[in-house]
Amino acid sequence: RMVKMYMACRNDIHRYDASFIAVYKSLIPAEEELEKQRQLMAHLENLVAKEWPHAKLYLYGSCANSFGFPKSDIDVCLAIEGDDINKSEMLLKLAEILESDNLQNVQALTRARVPIVKLMDPVTGISCDICINNVLAVVNTKLLRDYAQIDVRLRQLAFIVKHWAKSRRVNETYQGTLSSYAYVLMCIHFLQQRRPPILPCLQEMEPTYSVRVDNIRCAYFDNVDRLHNFGSSNRETIAELVWGFFNYWAYAHDYAYNVVSVRTGSILGKREKDWTRRVGNDRHLICIEDPFETSHDLGRVVDKFSIRVLREEFERAARIMHQEPNPCAKLFEPY
Ligand code: CTP
Ligand code: MG
Repeated sequence: RMVKMYMACRNDIHRYDASFIAVYKSLIPAEEELEKQRQLMAHLENLVAKEWPHAKLYLYGSCANSFGFPKSDIDVCLAIEGDDINKSEMLLKLAEILESDNLQNVQALTRARVPIVKLMDPVTGISCDICINNVLAVVNTKLLRDYAQIDVRLRQLAFIVKHWAKSRRVNETYQGTLSSYAYVLMCIHFLQQRRPPILPCLQEMEPTYSVRVDNIRCAYFDNVDRLHNFGSSNRETIAELVWGFFNYWAYAHDYAYNVVSVRTGSILGKREKDWTRRVGNDRHLICIEDPFETSHDLGRVVDKFSIRVLREEFERAARIMHQEPNPCAKLFEPY
């Protein structure tokens, strides 16, 4: 009811497109930064090749999925085959190599949930985390990057949502709110659901890319050059989409029963995933299915306190989009 009323009085939403586009543009990293990242990668590849000639280095996360902000750290995965890999030993050896190459702040965190070596490169000023054989992250990074190529509105929406989440401090998994990865999946799913759709469901199409990682088959249509016109019959603009996104998560999503799934391009029931009750620490209060690790709910970090914080923030954002005279300024007000 309320939503309808607001809709009726806000047919001027397009007035705000320009300010949202300006925010988006201000968040795109400069070409020099990407060049520096490539420079550091090339350097690391060289160092690693001397010790492990068969290893490969991959970028993953925001520095490679096209949803990265300026001045982010980079995430690197060292992939090496073999059943007898001792990650801790390897990380310690890697730390030694990096240290003797004059890289700074080198630190091996072998007991972390995802064990890594951290470093800072004094030449480019970039900080970097290196993990070993986290190949699923490399593959889901490619999936996100491929989706971003199809329609520019995904990148626009996701930058705005990430910027909002960081400003409002709801992008902190250690505090029970959602990861950037989860927010990008929510945006992809939202655009898959528009009518007509703005994004297809790549995993439901004839696969042109297929790899097996830790016994999970990751397959989808990655020939995205062919899909540049996919969303063109939908003319919704960025301000409308930002509005629709927050409206969905504030008022329309069924938190009790539903799971959003990029893999199927649809909404699934919690019952079919067996996510209806708390198991261990997984409470499933907001359910976002990982596209490849389908037993993994990205909302599992959310607890009974942080779900309230999140939902209040979605409602605040929706309210601002519905009635504020200058929604773009208000939306990103620091918490
Ligand atoms: N990732 C994952 N599963 C998660 C969280 C993260 O596989 N539950 C992987 C994804 O490949 C993701 C990467 O780790 O792209 C980095 O995650 P995150 O830090 O959430 O996102 P970034 O894109 O790096 O965002 P930010 O700009 O906030 O650093
Ligand atoms: Mg990151």
